[in-house]
Amino acid sequence: MADLSTQYLGLKLKNPLVASPSPFTETVDGVKRLEDAGVSAVTLYSLFEEQIIHESEELDHYLTAGTDSFAEAQSYLPDAGKYSLSPDKYLEHLAKVKKAVKIPVLGSLNGVSTGGWVKWAKKIEEAGADALELNIYFMPTDPAIAGRNIVSDQVSLVRDVKAQIKIPLAVKLSPFYTAMPNVAQQFAGAGAAGLVLFNRFYQPDINLEKLEVEPNLQLSRSDELRLPLRWIAVLADRVKCDFALSTGLHTGDDLAKAILVGASVGQVTSALLKHGPGRVKEILDGFKAILEQHEYKTVSEMKGAMCQKRVAAPAAYERANYMKVLGDFKTLP
Ligand SMILES: Cc1cc2nc3c(=O)[nH]c(=O)nc-3n(C[C@H](O)[C@H](O)[C@H](O)COP(=O)(O)O)c2cc1C
Repeated sequence: MADLSTQYLGLKLKNPLVASPSPFTETVDGVKRLEDAGVSAVTLYSLFEEQIIHESEELDHYLTAGTDSFAEAQSYLPDAGKYSLSPDKYLEHLAKVKKAVKIPVLGSLNGVSTGGWVKWAKKIEEAGADALELNIYFMPTDPAIAGRNIVSDQVSLVRDVKAQIKIPLAVKLSPFYTAMPNVAQQFAGAGAAGLVLFNRFYQPDINLEKLEVEPNLQLSRSDELRLPLRWIAVLADRVKCDFALSTGLHTGDDLAKAILVGASVGQVTSALLKHGPGRVKEILDGFKAILEQHEYKTVSEMKGAMCQKRVAAPAAYERANYMKVLGDFKTLP
C-alpha cells in the first residue's frame, strides 16, 4: 500500500493535496468540509494589505507616499471586496478554524509593499496559523519602474514578513518575471521556505454593449497546469526550498505530474469550486493509482523524478524544444 504522506514547509502532511485560498475557507464549516473530504492542509483566503491599511491611520500617508499600488490594487484584486471581514475578524476566524480542524492551517497575507502592515504576519502566527503564505499580487503598470526595483522591493517585503514570524513562510508569486530562477532564489534567500507557483491573475474583459471593463472570474482548466509544471521542473533542483503547484490542478493525473516535476504538494481551488469537495477523493484516488502503477512506495520516491535535471531530454523544458514542436505540427485543416 503506497504511503501518501509528504512534507511541506516542515509540516508533516498525510497526503500532497492542499486546499488553496477559496471561498470555502471563509467559514469554519467550509474548512471542515475540506478536511472531511481529505485535503491534508488548508490555506485560508487572504487578508489584503489594503484592508489592513484601510483600518489604520496609515492610509493618508500611504496614498501620498508616492506608491500607486493602492489605487491599482482596487482594480486588479480578485474581488477583494467580497472578503468583507475586518483584519481583527480574520484573526478570530483563523483561531476558530484552528480549533475546529486537525489539519494544518496556513494564514494568507496579500500585499506588495513593506510597511507597518507586515506586523499582521505576527498576529496571524499568534492566532495559531501553522504557516503563512504571502501572496505578492502586483501589476507593474508604471513605465518608470524597472524590473530590478520591483524585485528588490518584493525581496525586502519577504524579508520583513519573515522577520515577524517563527512559523514557516511560503511566497505565492506570479509567473511574470524576467528571470524566474534568480527571483525564486532571492525569495528563498530572504526567508521563504516554500514557493507557490503560481498565483492566477484575473484578466478583465470588455463589455461591448456598455463599453465597460468587466472583472471576469473564470475558473482554471487542466491545461493551465503546464506553466507551473514547467517552472517547478526547472527550479526544483536549483533553488533550495519547497515548491507547491497552484493553477490548473483538477485530477489525480495533474497531482502526479506536480509531484513528478518536484512539487512537495499540489494546491486546488477551481476543481473544488466546480465539483465540490467530493472531488478531493477522486484526485487522491487517481494520484494513488499512478503512484502504484509506477511502483513508487512513497511520495518522496516519486517527487522530482521528472524534474529537468533528471530527465533524459532536459531541453524539452527549454527553448531548444520550441523549434522541434513547431516543426512537428503537420495537420492543417
Ligand atoms: C473565488 C476565488 C477566490 C480566491 N481567493 C484567493 C485569496 O484570497 N488568496 C489567494 O492567495 N488566492 C486566492 N484565489 C486563488 C486560488 O487560491 C488559486 O491560486 C487559483 O484559483 C489557481 O488555482 P486553481 O487552478 O486550483 O483554481 C482565489 C481563487 C478563486 C477562484
